[in-house]
Amino acid sequence: MSSLLVDNIGELVTNAPRGDGDGPLGLRRNAAVLVEDGRVVWLGPARYAPAADRRIDAGGGAVLPGFVDSHAHLVFAGDRAGEFAARMAGRPYTGGGIRTTVAATRAADDDTLRATVRRLRAEALGQGTTTMEIKSGYGLTVADEVRSLRIAGESTDETTFLGAHVVPQEYADRPDDYVGLVCGPMLRAATPYARWIDVFCERGAFDVDHARAILTCGQAAGLGVRVHANQLGPGPGVQLAVELGAASADHCTHLDEADVAALAGSATVATLLPGAEFSTRSPYPDARRLLDAGATVALATDCNPGSSYTSSMAFCVALAVREMRMTPAEAVWSATAGGARALRRDDVGVLRVGSRADLLVLDAPSHLHLAYRPGVPLIHRVLHNGVPQ
Ligand code: NIG
Ligand code: FE
Repeated sequence: MSSLLVDNIGELVTNAPRGDGDGPLGLRRNAAVLVEDGRVVWLGPARYAPAADRRIDAGGGAVLPGFVDSHAHLVFAGDRAGEFAARMAGRPYTGGGIRTTVAATRAADDDTLRATVRRLRAEALGQGTTTMEIKSGYGLTVADEVRSLRIAGESTDETTFLGAHVVPQEYADRPDDYVGLVCGPMLRAATPYARWIDVFCERGAFDVDHARAILTCGQAAGLGVRVHANQLGPGPGVQLAVELGAASADHCTHLDEADVAALAGSATVATLLPGAEFSTRSPYPDARRLLDAGATVALATDCNPGSSYTSSMAFCVALAVREMRMTPAEAVWSATAGGARALRRDDVGVLRVGSRADLLVLDAPSHLHLAYRPGVPLIHRVLHNGVPQ
Protein backbone atom coordinates (compact mmCIF):
# COMPACT_ATOMS: atom_id res chain seq x y z
CA MET A 1 0.00 0.00 0.00
CA SER A 2 1.64 3.25 -1.06
CA SER A 3 1.72 6.25 1.22
CA LEU A 4 1.68 9.93 0.36
CA LEU A 5 2.93 12.75 2.57
CA VAL A 6 1.59 16.28 2.14
CA ASP A 7 4.45 18.21 3.63
CA ASN A 8 5.56 21.78 4.30
CA ILE A 9 2.05 22.98 5.20
CA GLY A 10 2.22 26.54 6.56
CA GLU A 11 -1.31 26.46 8.01
CA LEU A 12 -3.42 23.31 8.35
CA VAL A 13 -7.19 23.69 8.84
CA THR A 14 -8.36 20.50 10.57
CA ASN A 15 -11.85 21.48 11.81
CA ALA A 16 -10.92 19.27 14.76
CA PRO A 17 -10.01 21.77 17.50
CA ARG A 18 -7.98 20.55 20.47
CA GLY A 19 -8.94 23.57 22.57
CA ASP A 20 -5.37 24.80 22.92
CA GLY A 21 -6.05 28.15 21.28
CA ASP A 22 -6.31 26.62 17.82
CA GLY A 23 -9.80 28.12 17.30
CA PRO A 24 -12.86 26.52 15.74
CA LEU A 25 -10.86 25.63 12.64
CA GLY A 26 -8.35 23.63 14.71
CA LEU A 27 -5.42 25.41 13.05
CA ARG A 28 -1.96 23.87 13.12
CA ARG A 29 1.23 25.55 11.88
CA ASN A 30 4.12 23.88 10.01
CA ALA A 31 2.28 20.61 9.66
CA ALA A 32 2.23 17.51 7.50
CA VAL A 33 -0.48 14.98 6.65
CA LEU A 34 0.18 11.31 5.81
CA VAL A 35 -2.30 9.54 3.58
CA GLU A 36 -2.71 5.82 2.92
CA ASP A 37 -5.45 3.99 1.12
CA GLY A 38 -7.62 7.10 0.79
CA ARG A 39 -7.53 7.96 4.49
CA VAL A 40 -5.56 10.26 6.75
CA VAL A 41 -3.34 7.98 8.84
CA TRP A 42 -1.20 10.60 10.59
CA LEU A 43 -1.00 14.36 10.96
CA GLY A 44 1.24 16.51 13.07
CA PRO A 45 4.28 18.79 13.07
CA ALA A 46 6.19 18.54 9.80
CA ARG A 47 9.46 17.88 11.63
CA TYR A 48 8.07 14.58 12.98
CA ALA A 49 6.55 13.44 9.70
CA PRO A 50 7.01 9.74 8.96
CA ALA A 51 8.68 8.60 5.76
CA ALA A 52 6.39 8.03 2.78
CA ASP A 53 6.56 6.63 -0.73
CA ARG A 54 5.57 9.93 -2.33
CA ARG A 55 5.53 13.54 -1.24
CA ILE A 56 3.58 16.66 -2.16
CA ASP A 57 5.23 19.92 -1.12
CA ALA A 58 2.56 22.42 -0.04
CA GLY A 59 5.18 25.16 -0.38
CA GLY A 60 4.31 26.71 2.97
CA GLY A 61 0.70 27.25 1.81
CA ALA A 62 -2.53 26.51 3.64
CA VAL A 63 -4.18 23.08 3.49
CA LEU A 64 -7.93 22.71 4.12
CA PRO A 65 -10.40 19.84 4.10
CA GLY A 66 -11.95 19.62 0.64
CA PHE A 67 -15.10 21.68 0.23
CA VAL A 68 -18.39 19.90 0.89
CA ASP A 69 -21.00 21.32 -1.47
CA SER A 70 -24.27 20.04 -0.03
CA HIS A 71 -26.66 21.59 -2.58
CA ALA A 72 -26.34 21.38 -6.37
CA HIS A 73 -28.62 20.73 -9.35
CA LEU A 74 -26.30 19.37 -12.05
CA VAL A 75 -28.62 17.17 -14.11
CA PHE A 76 -30.05 19.49 -16.73
CA ALA A 77 -29.82 20.45 -20.38
CA GLY A 78 -29.48 23.87 -21.96
CA ASP A 79 -28.78 27.07 -20.13
CA ARG A 80 -30.70 30.23 -19.21
CA ALA A 81 -28.19 32.94 -19.96
CA GLY A 82 -30.95 35.01 -21.58
CA GLU A 83 -33.02 34.84 -18.40
CA PHE A 84 -29.96 35.99 -16.44
CA ALA A 85 -29.49 38.93 -18.80
CA ALA A 86 -33.15 39.88 -18.43
CA ARG A 87 -32.80 39.79 -14.64
CA MET A 88 -29.76 42.00 -14.74
CA ALA A 89 -31.91 44.39 -16.80
CA GLY A 90 -34.48 44.46 -14.00
CA ARG A 91 -36.77 41.44 -14.33
CA PRO A 92 -37.34 39.63 -10.99
CA TYR A 93 -36.54 35.92 -10.35
CA THR A 94 -39.65 33.84 -9.68
CA GLY A 95 -38.47 30.27 -10.26
CA GLY A 96 -40.72 30.19 -13.35
CA GLY A 97 -37.73 29.38 -15.55
CA ILE A 98 -37.45 25.94 -13.97
CA ARG A 99 -40.02 24.71 -16.49
CA THR A 100 -37.80 25.90 -19.37
CA THR A 101 -35.01 23.66 -18.09
CA VAL A 102 -37.47 20.79 -17.53
CA ALA A 103 -38.44 20.92 -21.22
CA ALA A 104 -34.79 20.95 -22.33
CA THR A 105 -33.86 18.15 -19.94
CA ARG A 106 -36.69 15.88 -21.06
CA ALA A 107 -35.65 16.39 -24.69
CA ALA A 108 -31.98 15.54 -24.04
CA ASP A 109 -30.53 12.04 -24.36
CA ASP A 110 -28.71 10.31 -21.52
CA ASP A 111 -25.24 10.99 -22.89
CA THR A 112 -25.90 14.72 -23.13
CA LEU A 113 -27.05 14.85 -19.50
CA ARG A 114 -24.15 12.64 -18.42
CA ALA A 115 -21.63 14.89 -20.15
CA THR A 116 -23.00 17.96 -18.35
CA VAL A 117 -22.90 16.29 -14.93
CA ARG A 118 -19.33 15.06 -15.51
CA ARG A 119 -18.18 18.43 -16.76
CA LEU A 120 -19.62 20.31 -13.79
CA ARG A 121 -18.46 17.70 -11.26
CA ALA A 122 -14.93 17.92 -12.71
CA GLU A 123 -15.12 21.73 -12.72
CA ALA A 124 -16.06 21.70 -9.02
CA LEU A 125 -13.40 19.14 -8.11
CA GLY A 126 -10.74 21.28 -9.74
CA GLN A 127 -11.88 24.10 -7.47
CA GLY A 128 -11.58 21.96 -4.35
CA THR A 129 -15.03 20.40 -3.97
CA THR A 130 -14.41 16.82 -2.93
CA THR A 131 -17.97 15.99 -1.82
CA MET A 132 -20.95 17.19 -3.82
CA GLU A 133 -24.64 16.53 -3.41
CA ILE A 134 -26.53 16.31 -6.70
CA LYS A 135 -30.31 16.63 -7.06
CA SER A 136 -32.74 15.49 -9.71
CA GLY A 137 -35.64 17.85 -10.31
CA TYR A 138 -35.56 18.85 -13.97
CA GLY A 139 -37.19 15.62 -15.21
CA LEU A 140 -40.50 15.55 -13.31
CA THR A 141 -41.72 12.32 -14.93
CA VAL A 142 -41.03 8.92 -13.40
CA ALA A 143 -38.61 7.98 -16.17
CA ASP A 144 -36.86 11.37 -16.28
CA GLU A 145 -36.41 11.59 -12.51
CA VAL A 146 -35.02 8.04 -12.36
CA ARG A 147 -32.53 8.64 -15.15
CA SER A 148 -31.50 11.94 -13.56
CA LEU A 149 -30.75 10.13 -10.29
CA ARG A 150 -28.98 7.28 -12.05
CA ILE A 151 -26.73 9.73 -13.88
CA ALA A 152 -26.16 11.78 -10.71
CA GLY A 153 -25.20 8.55 -8.91
CA GLU A 154 -22.35 7.99 -11.37
CA SER A 155 -20.68 11.11 -9.92
CA THR A 156 -21.68 11.09 -6.24
CA ASP A 157 -23.16 8.99 -3.42
CA GLU A 158 -25.07 12.05 -2.20
CA THR A 159 -28.05 11.92 -4.55
CA THR A 160 -31.31 13.73 -3.82
CA PHE A 161 -34.75 13.06 -5.28
CA LEU A 162 -36.34 16.43 -6.06
CA GLY A 163 -39.43 15.30 -8.00
CA ALA A 164 -41.19 18.11 -6.12
CA HIS A 165 -39.18 20.93 -7.66
CA VAL A 166 -42.21 22.52 -9.36
CA VAL A 167 -45.53 21.19 -10.62
CA PRO A 168 -44.84 20.41 -14.29
CA GLN A 169 -46.88 22.11 -16.99
CA GLU A 170 -49.03 19.04 -17.77
CA TYR A 171 -50.25 18.96 -14.15
CA ALA A 172 -50.65 22.74 -13.78
CA ASP A 173 -54.39 22.57 -13.08
CA ARG A 174 -54.28 19.41 -10.92
CA PRO A 175 -51.38 19.71 -8.47
CA ASP A 176 -52.93 17.12 -6.11
CA ASP A 177 -52.53 14.51 -8.84
CA TYR A 178 -48.89 15.44 -9.27
CA VAL A 179 -48.26 15.13 -5.53
CA GLY A 180 -49.88 11.68 -5.71
CA LEU A 181 -47.50 10.72 -8.52
CA VAL A 182 -44.47 11.97 -6.58
CA CYS A 183 -45.48 10.16 -3.38
CA GLY A 184 -46.38 6.96 -5.20
CA PRO A 185 -44.86 5.60 -8.41
CA MET A 186 -42.15 8.26 -8.73
CA LEU A 187 -40.87 7.81 -5.19
CA ARG A 188 -40.92 4.01 -5.51
CA ALA A 189 -38.88 4.17 -8.71
CA ALA A 190 -36.50 6.84 -7.38
CA THR A 191 -35.75 5.42 -3.93
CA PRO A 192 -33.13 2.86 -5.03
CA TYR A 193 -31.09 5.67 -6.55
CA ALA A 194 -31.47 8.34 -3.86
CA ARG A 195 -30.15 9.00 -0.36
CA TRP A 196 -32.24 12.13 0.21
CA ILE A 197 -35.60 13.66 -0.63
CA ASP A 198 -36.10 17.41 -1.10
CA VAL A 199 -39.09 19.67 -1.83
CA PHE A 200 -39.18 23.27 -3.06
CA CYS A 201 -41.59 24.58 -0.40
CA GLU A 202 -42.42 28.05 -1.67
CA ARG A 203 -45.28 30.10 -3.07
CA GLY A 204 -45.53 29.05 -6.74
CA ALA A 205 -44.01 25.62 -6.05
CA PHE A 206 -45.36 23.36 -3.23
CA ASP A 207 -47.38 24.52 -0.24
CA VAL A 208 -46.69 23.23 3.24
CA ASP A 209 -49.32 20.47 3.17
CA HIS A 210 -48.05 19.07 -0.10
CA ALA A 211 -44.46 19.41 1.07
CA ARG A 212 -45.19 17.61 4.34
CA ALA A 213 -47.00 14.79 2.51
CA ILE A 214 -44.11 14.26 0.08
CA LEU A 215 -41.34 14.48 2.67
CA THR A 216 -43.15 12.13 5.05
CA CYS A 217 -43.56 9.53 2.28
CA GLY A 218 -39.87 9.88 1.47
CA GLN A 219 -38.93 9.44 5.10
CA ALA A 220 -41.08 6.31 5.34
CA ALA A 221 -39.23 4.97 2.29
CA GLY A 222 -35.94 5.47 4.15
CA LEU A 223 -34.72 8.70 2.58
CA GLY A 224 -33.20 11.56 4.58
CA VAL A 225 -35.00 14.91 4.41
CA ARG A 226 -33.82 18.29 3.12
CA VAL A 227 -36.01 21.25 2.18
CA HIS A 228 -35.74 24.28 -0.11
CA ALA A 229 -37.19 26.77 2.36
CA ASN A 230 -37.86 30.50 2.67
CA GLN A 231 -35.95 31.46 -0.48
CA LEU A 232 -38.25 33.91 -2.23
CA GLY A 233 -40.30 35.07 0.74
CA PRO A 234 -41.30 34.25 4.30
CA GLY A 235 -43.10 30.92 4.71
CA PRO A 236 -43.49 27.67 6.59
CA GLY A 237 -40.61 25.74 4.98
CA VAL A 238 -38.06 26.17 7.75
CA GLN A 239 -40.53 25.19 10.47
CA LEU A 240 -41.51 22.14 8.44
CA ALA A 241 -37.85 21.15 8.02
CA VAL A 242 -37.30 21.36 11.78
CA GLU A 243 -40.57 19.53 12.53
CA LEU A 244 -39.48 16.62 10.32
CA GLY A 245 -35.93 16.51 11.66
CA ALA A 246 -34.50 17.43 8.26
CA ALA A 247 -30.73 17.37 7.89
CA SER A 248 -30.89 20.79 6.28
CA ALA A 249 -33.15 23.73 5.46
CA ASP A 250 -31.69 25.37 2.38
CA HIS A 251 -31.74 29.06 1.35
CA CYS A 252 -33.17 30.53 4.62
CA THR A 253 -33.22 33.97 3.05
CA HIS A 254 -36.46 35.25 4.62
CA LEU A 255 -36.60 34.21 8.28
CA ASP A 256 -38.57 35.54 11.24
CA GLU A 257 -37.54 35.22 14.88
CA ALA A 258 -39.39 31.93 15.33
CA ASP A 259 -37.61 30.43 12.30
CA VAL A 260 -34.21 31.43 13.65
CA ALA A 261 -35.06 30.06 17.10
CA ALA A 262 -36.35 26.80 15.61
CA LEU A 263 -33.13 26.27 13.64
CA ALA A 264 -30.98 27.18 16.63
CA GLY A 265 -32.80 24.68 18.82
CA SER A 266 -32.55 21.82 16.34
CA ALA A 267 -30.10 19.58 14.51
CA THR A 268 -31.30 21.01 11.20
CA VAL A 269 -28.49 22.89 9.46
CA ALA A 270 -29.25 26.25 7.84
CA THR A 271 -27.64 25.94 4.41
CA LEU A 272 -27.08 29.33 2.82
CA LEU A 273 -26.63 29.69 -0.92
CA PRO A 274 -25.28 33.17 -1.62
CA GLY A 275 -24.67 32.40 -5.30
CA ALA A 276 -28.46 32.45 -5.70
CA GLU A 277 -28.81 35.93 -4.19
CA PHE A 278 -25.85 37.13 -6.24
CA SER A 279 -27.31 35.79 -9.50
CA THR A 280 -30.87 36.92 -8.82
CA ARG A 281 -29.76 40.29 -7.39
CA SER A 282 -31.67 39.62 -4.17
CA PRO A 283 -30.96 40.47 -0.54
CA TYR A 284 -28.61 37.97 1.11
CA PRO A 285 -29.65 35.77 4.05
CA ASP A 286 -28.48 37.02 7.43
CA ALA A 287 -25.85 34.50 8.43
CA ARG A 288 -24.76 36.59 11.41
CA ARG A 289 -28.21 36.42 12.98
CA LEU A 290 -28.29 32.62 12.60
CA LEU A 291 -24.79 32.16 13.99
CA ASP A 292 -25.40 34.49 16.93
CA ALA A 293 -28.56 32.55 17.78
CA GLY A 294 -26.55 29.30 17.81
CA ALA A 295 -27.69 27.71 14.53
CA THR A 296 -25.32 25.56 12.49
CA VAL A 297 -24.67 27.19 9.12
CA ALA A 298 -23.46 25.53 5.92
CA LEU A 299 -22.52 27.21 2.65
CA ALA A 300 -23.21 25.60 -0.72
CA THR A 301 -23.30 26.69 -4.36
CA ASP A 302 -26.86 25.74 -5.45
CA CYS A 303 -25.18 25.22 -8.83
CA ASN A 304 -28.03 25.25 -11.40
CA PRO A 305 -28.68 26.93 -14.76
CA GLY A 306 -31.32 29.33 -13.41
CA SER A 307 -30.58 30.96 -10.10
CA SER A 308 -26.89 30.26 -9.46
CA TYR A 309 -24.70 28.94 -12.25
CA THR A 310 -21.49 28.68 -10.25
CA SER A 311 -19.61 25.61 -9.05
CA SER A 312 -17.16 27.67 -6.99
CA MET A 313 -17.26 27.20 -3.23
CA ALA A 314 -14.46 29.76 -2.90
CA PHE A 315 -16.74 32.35 -4.51
CA CYS A 316 -19.48 31.47 -1.99
CA VAL A 317 -17.01 31.85 0.87
CA ALA A 318 -16.03 35.30 -0.37
CA LEU A 319 -19.69 36.34 -0.75
CA ALA A 320 -20.54 35.05 2.72
CA VAL A 321 -17.77 37.11 4.28
CA ARG A 322 -18.41 40.29 2.33
CA GLU A 323 -22.20 40.22 2.15
CA MET A 324 -23.44 38.01 4.99
CA ARG A 325 -21.35 39.18 7.92
CA MET A 326 -19.52 35.90 8.40
CA THR A 327 -15.90 35.94 9.50
CA PRO A 328 -13.46 34.23 7.13
CA ALA A 329 -13.05 31.40 9.67
CA GLU A 330 -16.82 30.90 9.96
CA ALA A 331 -17.22 30.85 6.19
CA VAL A 332 -14.43 28.30 5.72
CA TRP A 333 -15.93 26.10 8.46
CA SER A 334 -19.39 26.34 6.90
CA ALA A 335 -18.07 25.40 3.45
CA THR A 336 -16.33 22.30 4.80
CA ALA A 337 -17.50 20.97 8.19
CA GLY A 338 -20.86 22.75 7.85
CA GLY A 339 -21.57 21.05 4.53
CA ALA A 340 -20.62 17.71 6.09
CA ARG A 341 -23.13 18.32 8.91
CA ALA A 342 -25.79 19.16 6.33
CA LEU A 343 -25.15 15.75 4.76
CA ARG A 344 -24.86 14.04 8.17
CA ARG A 345 -21.33 12.94 7.37
CA ASP A 346 -18.46 12.79 9.84
CA ASP A 347 -15.79 11.38 7.52
CA VAL A 348 -15.48 14.51 5.35
CA GLY A 349 -15.13 18.23 6.02
CA VAL A 350 -12.53 17.45 8.67
CA LEU A 351 -8.89 16.32 8.69
CA ARG A 352 -8.00 13.89 11.46
CA VAL A 353 -6.76 10.33 11.65
CA GLY A 354 -9.35 8.13 9.96
CA SER A 355 -11.07 10.83 7.93
CA ARG A 356 -11.19 10.68 4.17
CA ALA A 357 -8.08 12.09 2.55
CA ASP A 358 -9.98 14.88 0.80
CA LEU A 359 -8.00 18.09 0.96
CA LEU A 360 -6.95 21.13 -0.97
CA VAL A 361 -3.68 23.02 -1.03
CA LEU A 362 -3.91 26.79 -1.38
CA ASP A 363 -1.42 28.86 -3.26
CA ALA A 364 -1.64 31.24 -0.27
CA PRO A 365 -0.41 31.14 3.32
CA SER A 366 -3.78 31.16 5.09
CA HIS A 367 -7.47 30.28 4.76
CA LEU A 368 -8.10 34.05 5.07
CA HIS A 369 -6.98 34.48 1.50
CA LEU A 370 -10.07 32.72 0.11
CA ALA A 371 -12.16 35.78 0.98
CA TYR A 372 -9.31 38.29 0.95
CA ARG A 373 -8.42 37.46 -2.68
CA PRO A 374 -11.83 36.87 -4.29
CA GLY A 375 -11.95 35.52 -7.81
CA VAL A 376 -8.30 34.46 -7.78
CA PRO A 377 -7.57 30.79 -8.58
CA LEU A 378 -5.89 29.91 -5.28
CA ILE A 379 -6.74 26.19 -5.27
CA HIS A 380 -3.36 24.80 -6.19
CA ARG A 381 -3.70 21.03 -5.61
CA VAL A 382 -6.63 18.80 -4.72
CA LEU A 383 -6.55 15.32 -3.17
CA HIS A 384 -9.74 13.29 -3.49
CA ASN A 385 -9.83 9.97 -1.64
CA GLY A 386 -6.08 10.37 -1.29
CA VAL A 387 -5.59 10.66 -5.06
CA PRO A 388 -3.96 13.83 -6.44
CA GLN A 389 -6.24 15.31 -9.10
O1 NIG B 1 -32.38 26.33 -5.52
N1 NIG B 1 -35.30 27.09 -5.69
C1 NIG B 1 -35.47 26.17 -6.47
N2 NIG B 1 -34.53 25.60 -7.22
C2 NIG B 1 -33.35 26.23 -7.62
C3 NIG B 1 -33.54 27.08 -8.81
C4 NIG B 1 -33.67 26.31 -9.99
C5 NIG B 1 -33.84 27.07 -11.26
O2 NIG B 1 -34.12 28.29 -11.30
O3 NIG B 1 -33.70 26.38 -12.28
C6 NIG B 1 -32.72 26.99 -6.48
O4 NIG B 1 -32.50 28.22 -6.54
FE1 FE C 1 -31.61 24.62 -5.10
